Amino acid sequence: MAKIDFGGVIEDVVTDEEFPLEKARETLANEKVAVLGYGVQGPAQSLNMRDNGINVIVGQRKEEKVYWDKAINDGFKPGETLFPLEEAAEKGTIIQYLISDAGQMVTWPKIKECLKQGDALYFSHGFSIVYKDQTGVIPPDNIDVIMVAPKGSGRTVRSNFLEGSGINSSYAVFQDYTGRAKERTLALGVAIGSGYLFPTTFANEVYSDLVGERGVLMGCLAGVMEAQYHILRTHGHSPSESFNETVEELTQSLIRLVAENGMDWMYANTSTTAQRGALDWRHRFRGAVTPLFDELYNSVVSGEETRIVLEANSAPDYRERLQEELDEIRTSEMWRAGAAVRSLRPERRKMR
Ligand SMILES: NC(=O)c1ccc[n+]([C@@H]2O[C@H](COP(=O)([O-])OP(=O)(O)OC[C@H]3O[C@@H](n4cnc5c(N)ncnc54)[C@H](OP(=O)(O)O)[C@@H]3O)[C@@H](O)[C@H]2O)c1
Repeated sequence: MAKIDFGGVIEDVVTDEEFPLEKARETLANEKVAVLGYGVQGPAQSLNMRDNGINVIVGQRKEEKVYWDKAINDGFKPGETLFPLEEAAEKGTIIQYLISDAGQMVTWPKIKECLKQGDALYFSHGFSIVYKDQTGVIPPDNIDVIMVAPKGSGRTVRSNFLEGSGINSSYAVFQDYTGRAKERTLALGVAIGSGYLFPTTFANEVYSDLVGERGVLMGCLAGVMEAQYHILRTHGHSPSESFNETVEELTQSLIRLVAENGMDWMYANTSTTAQRGALDWRHRFRGAVTPLFDELYNSVVSGEETRIVLEANSAPDYRERLQEELDEIRTSEMWRAGAAVRSLRPERRKMR
């Protein structure tokens, strides 16, 4: 493993020098990988593995035609490489559990019956295992339980692979029955198209993931954007001005520069007026939201967040209620203003 210095803390990272694709192919040569679920991660991981020469079959509920047909369109053949969930699970030696987290809880009693001694049960999220008291997903002792969690959407897992780059993933071993669990994990990580592989635990992966998406990545981002927009509107600024100064400049310019060069560079390359104020207000905002992040972390670790997710996602009218919430955002003045601002992006003018 390579030792990499992350801001003064040395961490292990697996690179393709230690674990090249050829080694992954050798490690998986006698395995049949059954990918259960053909939603978002399922197609990406199974197609990447297939293209990498791994023996892959797909398991998908047949009654839900959309994903079943999608697998057929992608070249999986019913009865040969595409099966109903349980049949695929029985045929595989590595079972990649890539149906939704709520779906894993529902299907577990049947999938558990299909697992054979020495199989590996693979996850892309620590959810089902870490919150086993809520999900009931308690694997038998005579299998490996492993994880590779790509750090991005399944769509990026596939598109980066096709571009020839890859995506970074974290990996963990929860249970090593065969003594080969780590080798299997790293081989699968490479085979699904990971660039670099970072060690983690099931618990750390799910805690950081749940905090991140509720926090800066989405919940916090949406919340602070709304707060700033509304304050600007309250003080008489137009919708377009409020949206431009809150969202558009961020997504079209600043965040891309931060991604490229880091935050200090951003501060150094802005006006001195922006620089002084932003450097000072950074401390105020950090102070204001730290207690909220603390509350969020505790809510994740205590299982309250997953309790809410499992309860909400299992409700029969979940999709309708979700749509109502999304409609409320879409039809709000702020995001309607956003749609108008987006339509006026100069590059769109060139395309007309
Ligand atoms: N989305 C991502 O980019 C991403 C990123 C990193 C990790 N992950 C993890 O990867 C795993 C898969 O997530 P995903 O987003 O790819 O899946 P998803 O889109 O949430 O789930 C879709 C799949 O789950 C199946 N499914 C849902 N409920 C089911 C049930 N009750 N019985 C049988 N099948 C059911 C669907 O089939 P039907 O058509 O039959 O419902 C479909 O195959 C999760 O553990 C997730 O946390 C996802």
